[in-house]
Amino acid sequence: MSSKLEAIGIAKRYGDAVALEPTDLAVQAGEFLTLLGPSGSGKTTLLQMISGLVAPSAGRIEIDGRDVTHVEPGKRGIGMVFQSYALFPHMSVWDNVAYGLRMRRKSREEVRGAVDDALAMVRMTEYAKRFPKELSGGQQQRIALARCFAYRPSVILLDEPLGALDKKLREHMQSEIRRLHKELGATFVYVTHDQDEALTLSDRICLMNQARIEQVGTPTDLYDRPATRFAAGFIGHSNLLEGALDDARGASGEAILLAAGGRIPLPMNASVASGARHTLLVRPEAPRLVEPERGFVDGTIADIVFFGSDTRVQLAMNDGSELTVRCERSLSPRIGDKVGLVWDPYRTTLLHA
Ligand SMILES: Nc1ncnc2c1ncn2[C@@H]1O[C@H](COP(=O)(O)OP(=O)(O)OP(=O)(O)O)[C@@H](O)[C@H]1O
Ligand SMILES: [Mg+2]
Repeated sequence: MSSKLEAIGIAKRYGDAVALEPTDLAVQAGEFLTLLGPSGSGKTTLLQMISGLVAPSAGRIEIDGRDVTHVEPGKRGIGMVFQSYALFPHMSVWDNVAYGLRMRRKSREEVRGAVDDALAMVRMTEYAKRFPKELSGGQQQRIALARCFAYRPSVILLDEPLGALDKKLREHMQSEIRRLHKELGATFVYVTHDQDEALTLSDRICLMNQARIEQVGTPTDLYDRPATRFAAGFIGHSNLLEGALDDARGASGEAILLAAGGRIPLPMNASVASGARHTLLVRPEAPRLVEPERGFVDGTIADIVFFGSDTRVQLAMNDGSELTVRCERSLSPRIGDKVGLVWDPYRTTLLHA
C-alpha cells in the first residue's frame, strides 16, 4: 500500500532564521524520493514537517489529497526511521518490533503475524530473543526498519538511516533498502547528504540548497542535465568552461568561444544569448583524446591518476585551468603529451547563471 504525498507552500522559520523557504514538492504513490543536500539545507526540517513532528510556519501537507497539516504524527499513517536507531534497550528485538503494533491495539494474532513478517523481511528472525546491545550496528538498523515496517505504513520517511554504518555495511544496507522498498510498495522519502547513495537508491532526487529546492529530477536528469552550477558541482565530477557565443556562426551551428581558448560547438537545439557569458558543463567521461589541432580544446597532460577500471587524465589548458577526463587504459597517454579533446555536442550542458 502506498500514498501520494504533497507539500504545498510549506515553510519553516525559527525566529528570524529561515530553515525552509516556501516549498512545493509532490511525491508519487510508491515512489522512492531522496532529499539530497549539504548540511543545514533543510532536509530534516522538510521531512519532519511531513511527519508532523515539526509544525510548519506556513503551507500545508496532503496525503492522498487529504490535508493532514494539523493531524498528529501517529495518525498520519507515516512510519519514520532515524539515524539513531532509538531501540528500547530493555526490550527484546521481538518486543521492539511489536511495540508500535501494541500501541495501535492490534490483536495478539495480528501482532505475532506482523512481527514475524517484519523480522523475516529484514532477515533477522533468529535474533528475535536478543536485546539491542547484543546486536551489531547494522543489525540494530535492520530492527529499526522492521519496527517501522511492521505496521505497514503507506509512507515511510528515513532520515540518514545508514549514517552510523561503515562504508561496506552501508552499501549492503542500501541494496536491502531497495529490496524492501519493492517488497513493501510504500512511498519512501529518504534523506542523505551522500550523492552516491542518492543516485543508487532513488526514483527521483530532490536536491536542496540553502533552505530551498535547487532541482528535482531522476538521477540521470540531475547527472546529465543539472540546471545550476550548484547542482553540477554537488553531483558527480564537473568540468566547467566559461565563454561567450561565437558570433561567426559556423556550418555546424552555434558555438561558444572559451575564455581559456577553444571553441565548443553547441547542440543544434541550444538557444543562447549573444554578448552574455555562459558556463558549460562537460562530465569527465564525455571527451575523447585526439590530436591537439582537432580538439575543441587542447592542452598538455599534467597528471594521470589510475582508478582501476580506467584512468583520470588532468589536462592543463593554455590559460592554466584544468579539465579532468576519464580515459581507457589502453590509450596509455603520458604526462607532457599535447592532446586535444572532442565530444558529442549533446553531452555539453549549458548551465543557468
Ligand atoms: N529547532 C531549531 N531551532 C532553530 N534553528 C533550527 C532548528 N532546527 C533546525 N534549524 C536550522 O534550520 C536549518 C535547516 O536544518 P535541517 O536540520 O533541516 O538541515 P539538514 O539539511 O537536515 O542538515 P544535516 O545534513 O546537517 O542534517 C539549519 O540552519 C538549522 O540550524
Ligand atoms: Mg538532517
